[in-house]
Amino acid sequence: MSILVTGGAGYIGTHTCVSLLNAGYSVIIADNLANSKIESINKIKEITNKEVSFYQVDVTNSVDVEKIFFSHNIEGVIHFAGLKAVGESVEKPLQYYYNNLVSTIVIAEACIKFGVEKLIFSSSATVYGDNVVPFTEEMELKPTTNPYGTSKAMCEKILIDVVNANPNFSVSLLRYFNPVGAHESGLIGEAPNGIPNNLMPYLTQVAKGKLEKLRVFGNDYSTIDGTGVRDYIHVMDLAEGHLAAFKHIKKGVQIYNLGTGNGVSVLQLIKAFEEANNMIIPYSIVERRAGDIAECYADVSKVEKELGWTAKRDVLEMCRDAWKFELNNI
Ligand code: NAD
Ligand code: UD1
Repeated sequence: MSILVTGGAGYIGTHTCVSLLNAGYSVIIADNLANSKIESINKIKEITNKEVSFYQVDVTNSVDVEKIFFSHNIEGVIHFAGLKAVGESVEKPLQYYYNNLVSTIVIAEACIKFGVEKLIFSSSATVYGDNVVPFTEEMELKPTTNPYGTSKAMCEKILIDVVNANPNFSVSLLRYFNPVGAHESGLIGEAPNGIPNNLMPYLTQVAKGKLEKLRVFGNDYSTIDGTGVRDYIHVMDLAEGHLAAFKHIKKGVQIYNLGTGNGVSVLQLIKAFEEANNMIIPYSIVERRAGDIAECYADVSKVEKELGWTAKRDVLEMCRDAWKFELNNI
């Protein structure tokens, strides 16, 4: 039996494929390489010394997707494929809604048609919007201000309705907090196109001298030091969270936060990066970034209790591994 991983050539997908292969699963990857490179498939093989089946397909194409389901004995699907740049989603809403919604519909439809009953979906903490921290899975979701976030909330709703209509179906909705870091080998990691939007890849590029200095977006939030607080989670912990979710998946819908439960401010992350990698990061305080919230961190009690999973790697390890990958990534 194999697991189909859509978007398996991307940042979180590659790390999860490594964890799955190391745990003995067979892996099939479907990715159109819209935001990744074919080399990442070779890196997965290099790290694990195992083979994977790779299909360069767009998973919004039901004909291509069904061919994969027809050719393999698939036990379950982890659906990472999607577009994720918040700013771009505001400029190209239709592209984001089309890609993220249609891919999810096509995958769910193929699962039902071929009797594949386990589906894990990549959701995001962004669905909580500006709620009171820590965020719990039971909270009422707040509408997000961008099409990317809205597409995630809509996909969650679609899958809940699919389960209501197909009671044998098992769906796990995983809400990721802020994934950072890289595999300890430094062979795979996050390599965004162009100038990064997110804090950690921006930091590593400043550290490398590719960018002059980090801009800290606001120091007047009501947080520990005035800067934004987030729940950074090592991408390998996140990968292992998928394994736990897959092992414990059961009929119906389960929703879990994948975070550490710890809030870390921008200044605290800069300090940790400096300490972990023995360097100084130049930065300046600038205006708040539009759309940002002050604090976002998870309540992880449900995921710990029900999946027996907990994030193990600390912020220093996140910073060390992110930097190691940046050094390898010319
Ligand atoms: P990524 O862009 O690195 O990986 C996504 C992969 O999906 C890419 O390899 C891309 O080529 C592929 N893809 C996109 N559309 C496709 C399509 N129609 N058909 C086939 N392949 C397609 O992103 P990531 O950071 O690994 O994120 C994975 C998932 O997790 C996404 O759904 C994202 O929205 C979600 N997520 C990410 C974060 C984060 O901070 N990285 C946070 C919360 C949720
Ligand atoms: C962003 C997305 C969110 C997505 C998440 C995960 C926005 C508005 N939100 O969240 O929808 O789910 O990524 O990928 O883009 N910061 C700086 N300087 C920088 C970059 C960031 O000070 O150059 C600060 C931000 O203000 C924030 C923190 O660092 O307080 C983290 O930012 P970022 O890494 O972009 O993640 P989020 O804003 O949490």
